[in-house]
Amino acid sequence: MKVQPAKYLKGEVKIPGDKSITHRAIIFSSLSDGKCNIENMGLGQDNISTINVFRNMGVRINRVKDKCVVDGVGIHGLKEPINILDAGNSGTTIRIVSGILSAQSFFSVITGDKYLVKRPMKRIVEPLSMMGAYIIGREKNSFPPLAILGNSKLKGINYNLTVASAQVKSSILMAGMYADSETTISEPVKSRDHTERIMKYLNIPIKVEGTTVKIDPVNKIPSFNLKVPGDISSASFFIVAGTLLKDSMITIKNVSLNETRTGIIDVLLSMGANIKLENVREECGEPVGDIIVKGVEYLKPFEIRGEIIPRLIDEIPILSIAGAFADGISIIDDAHELRVKESDRIKSMLEGLKILGVKVEELPAGMIIHGTRNFKSGKVNTFGDHRIAMSFFVFGLCSNLGVELDDVSSVKISFPDFFNRMESLINA
Ligand code: S3P
Repeated sequence: MKVQPAKYLKGEVKIPGDKSITHRAIIFSSLSDGKCNIENMGLGQDNISTINVFRNMGVRINRVKDKCVVDGVGIHGLKEPINILDAGNSGTTIRIVSGILSAQSFFSVITGDKYLVKRPMKRIVEPLSMMGAYIIGREKNSFPPLAILGNSKLKGINYNLTVASAQVKSSILMAGMYADSETTISEPVKSRDHTERIMKYLNIPIKVEGTTVKIDPVNKIPSFNLKVPGDISSASFFIVAGTLLKDSMITIKNVSLNETRTGIIDVLLSMGANIKLENVREECGEPVGDIIVKGVEYLKPFEIRGEIIPRLIDEIPILSIAGAFADGISIIDDAHELRVKESDRIKSMLEGLKILGVKVEELPAGMIIHGTRNFKSGKVNTFGDHRIAMSFFVFGLCSNLGVELDDVSSVKISFPDFFNRMESLINA
């Protein structure tokens, strides 16, 4: 794909439902005691993978565009899948669903695409095995496929996560619902809390104290209706493009403003971006609002490390694009987790930025970016990673030379309509 430079972005845009919240809405509705309605759900392939996994365990899910009716089968109502469950590209699906499979009285195997089979699973296999699950995976239980012989008598555990991971936390929380006693999970730094929030919304007995979460055994999950707020990770490509193209003025409606996800806004504001939040309210247990972005002439560089990293982990690719346009040197550190996402996102971003004339340095857990406006034109490898593809698309809009991208089909993983919605705002 050849991306042409844009003059500015103007108008209003609606962003599809949040991918993380959609996964959880499908999971909890499938395990609920009746009919659930989900509105404004995410339509990316990752969310479809979660739907298919539950369909293959006997759950009736009827989706029409972004609305979905789920006939929950109850917490003990899943059926043994007759074939291998396919999580596609979705780390969230395989990790959270494995927590549920660990507690079933049947056998299952779950795997995914060529990228997912390289992603680390020991982080879930270890705690779930401590609870009494029988899980076997490739390379000494490190990678998918995972074969799971469920155990309906899981024990509650007290577990300290070594990395802040919402997927791991949620996987243990799911298993914890089926355990015989309380389960306690502590994280080094708080990761996104959508599982805790949907559990509270459904009156599931969960206690959150700082970075520790406790869950008691659960007998049933009530049916519910839920409207998914827009995905701030998808919105971030519009926020950065609107900031970098100085004559822009855009409104992004109904976006999730959950504090565990809004690190990108804090960093862009510290760089001098013009971003305002309006209409902030709570819907179905999650904060939501509109984001108004105006373009600016200059941006200051940023330094991010430590506690903020989990609050913007998925936005680091697009933030590194903002860093490339900033006046000075930006630093990203303590982001080891980027190495094990859909691609090694440190390597993927560094390679592309170098091709486009940006001076960058690799750190073990991050990178240093020397901001410039002297870009080169070039063809960038997106490594089959949706967020890398959308980040370099934004680079192409904002640099005076555009960019060529090798393959943008990965964008369907989180945001199939990305190009159309961007197109609707672009003034060339
Ligand atoms: C997610 C959690 C994050 C994030 C991923 C979605 C979730 O991963 O990067 O895109 O929905 O729980 P980790 O939990 O591994 O940090």
